[in-house]
Amino acid sequence: MSIIFSEKDNTFILHTKDTTYQMKVDRYGFLLHLYYGRRTEGNMEYLLRYADRGFSGNPYDAGTDRTYSMDALPQELPCQGTGDYRSPAVIVKNTDGSYGCDFRYRGHQIREGKYHIEGLPAVYADEGRGETLEIHLEDPVTKVQITLLYGVLSDLDIITRSARIRNSGGGKIYLEKVQAACLDWLYGEYDLISFYGRHAMERNVQRIPVAHGAHVIGSRRGTSSHQYNPMMILAGHETTEDAGSCYAMSFVYSGGFKGEVEKDQFNQTRALLGLSDELFSYPLETGEVFHVPEVVLTYSSQGLSKLSHNLHRCYREHLCRGKYKDAHRPVLLNSWEASYFDFHGDSIYELAKQAADLGIEMLVMDDGWFGKRDDDNSGLGDWFVNEQKLGESLGSLVERIRALGLKFGIWLEPECVNEDSELYREHPDWVLAVPGRNPVRARNQLVLDFSRKEVVDYIYEKVCNVLDQGKIEYVKWDMNRSLSDCFSRNTPDQGRVLHDYVLGLYDFLERLIGRYPDLLLEGCSGGGGRFDAGMLYYTPQIWCSDNTDALDRVRIQYGTSFGYPVSSVGSHVSAVPNHQTGRLTPLRTRGVTAMAGTFGYELDLGSLLEVEKEQIREQIREYLQHEDLIRNGRYYRLTDPFREEAGAWEFVSEDGREVLVGAVMQEIHGNMTVTYLRLKGLNPGQWYQEQKSGDIFASDALMEAGIPLPEQSGEYRAYQMYFKMVEA
Ligand code: GLA
Repeated sequence: MSIIFSEKDNTFILHTKDTTYQMKVDRYGFLLHLYYGRRTEGNMEYLLRYADRGFSGNPYDAGTDRTYSMDALPQELPCQGTGDYRSPAVIVKNTDGSYGCDFRYRGHQIREGKYHIEGLPAVYADEGRGETLEIHLEDPVTKVQITLLYGVLSDLDIITRSARIRNSGGGKIYLEKVQAACLDWLYGEYDLISFYGRHAMERNVQRIPVAHGAHVIGSRRGTSSHQYNPMMILAGHETTEDAGSCYAMSFVYSGGFKGEVEKDQFNQTRALLGLSDELFSYPLETGEVFHVPEVVLTYSSQGLSKLSHNLHRCYREHLCRGKYKDAHRPVLLNSWEASYFDFHGDSIYELAKQAADLGIEMLVMDDGWFGKRDDDNSGLGDWFVNEQKLGESLGSLVERIRALGLKFGIWLEPECVNEDSELYREHPDWVLAVPGRNPVRARNQLVLDFSRKEVVDYIYEKVCNVLDQGKIEYVKWDMNRSLSDCFSRNTPDQGRVLHDYVLGLYDFLERLIGRYPDLLLEGCSGGGGRFDAGMLYYTPQIWCSDNTDALDRVRIQYGTSFGYPVSSVGSHVSAVPNHQTGRLTPLRTRGVTAMAGTFGYELDLGSLLEVEKEQIREQIREYLQHEDLIRNGRYYRLTDPFREEAGAWEFVSEDGREVLVGAVMQEIHGNMTVTYLRLKGLNPGQWYQEQKSGDIFASDALMEAGIPLPEQSGEYRAYQMYFKMVEA
């Protein structure tokens, strides 16, 4: 058993392979956090210290003991109202209008298998691979109950946190704030690593020391957002890729979120991650239950690479689902940067013919095939095929393309609508908008009210109707704006709308994958605006960024790699000059960069030279040769492309015998200095042969001294090296 309850001292111990998490029910029934970190034995309660601290109040039942204060003690579920003045995980507004809750221990259960969460994405594990701890707490006055859920995936060093909040009291209450996980450290100096960005430049890496006060990241956009990713890392100041302590908190949720890190008056650090509390005031009638979305926690004592490996494995094997979770992902050609809205059936067919000739396996028809949609100002919401534009039915186009030996995929944006659409003209009240007030437009579109079941049902039916017109094997699910005007005509409780919207989205996706189990779904939100673990439960890959510039992609993919596996990173070779930046990069560089993702193309193949076509054929062969290693290998960041001249990364097979290195030189100067890459994760004391040159190296030499990148003139050169372990 990984989960142990010690009756002697009321302590819960969660062991994973290399980590331990401990908490304790104390004498008043509060659930205190004791320890999270490297695996250890023994009761960690001795770490707690009690002192009479001014202006830190004491719970009534502590009597005259002025040394017992929630303001100073580490907790699993800090609540507003108990005398803790740090940021709380939960705020409840009670039936009588008072704020506050005071949850005390009532019991617990330990069971085999990992819990599921109704209506929400969550890490899964069968019996034997996961265990669940449920701790039941109750407010003795209001009778509101909360069950804290802990999932333990021991082999993966993963602990998950979620909760169920039940209103067992006598009237309606409101949840004003709900954070899914809290980590309280008694002492220590930490850095916060977070991932900020903007459209077309997502997941830059920021590392700052945690100082007194609170640092907050989050999204109030209704989606997880380009601006901040719902994931944070707390690391020691000295922690590097290869050494030192670090913790990850990753939110399995696709809506607004809040991450807070606070160093308090006693130099203790608290990190919280969960739902955004802005515009959030979730009603619960008597008997109703609120399911708190999950946070995934992991700890590494061996630096950031190991931390990422833990998350990668967890998301690849225990979050992504469906046929494509483990299967080969078709090399695709997407029509967007090839022709934008300007296409018809024959031009798509022509593109497919050229794609087939190059070895590409799937044609994806992007935006523009439905309604009246020749630009992004109209047509959204009209999910019927524009046969006039295509010049044929969708079924006939799909068949023609399939006859070329290609699969067929299609673009959808089910959550939004243009005012210039039949759907909006028929149902103007289906959008999120405040009656009497003009809504905020973005990309000239509005957001459908997915908190309403009838809206979700209607769009679902229309989408299925399209998907039933031919053998469609892939869908790119897009979402091209942030939510605003969060008013639903369906409810008097507007504080529930943003969360219900996300539940509506998940319901749609769940039904879709249930009905089309063989469909490959790729998530997208103007690129990586909803690149989160919640979406990965439904869409095993996500278009990483609308920015296809190879150089920018090196950085975007670097930032993304901290929290997400390469198998989830949608990445394509596009044309030069690049459509987002105007930069010229060699085709080889675009290929090597896209190979650190779900490889594909997105350009007009008709304008390519014969030598470029030959290069693409070769790229595809190369990718297919290495695909398994890329998708399932351990991913190492070899450099930091924000600070170093080269961006470099590496894939190592589970058994360490196969190694693929990718690198892009970001700088070129006169009299160039040499760049050495030190490889990682090879089997020590072994020999490796580079497959192109035939050169043989000692693994320790490659890891300690590194390997020089060949000197080449010209901008933005890329390198790929493939090593295999050989007998001495
Ligand atoms: C978004 C996506 C693009 C493309 C367009 C189509 O911006 O990120 O890849 O699909 O929409 O309108």
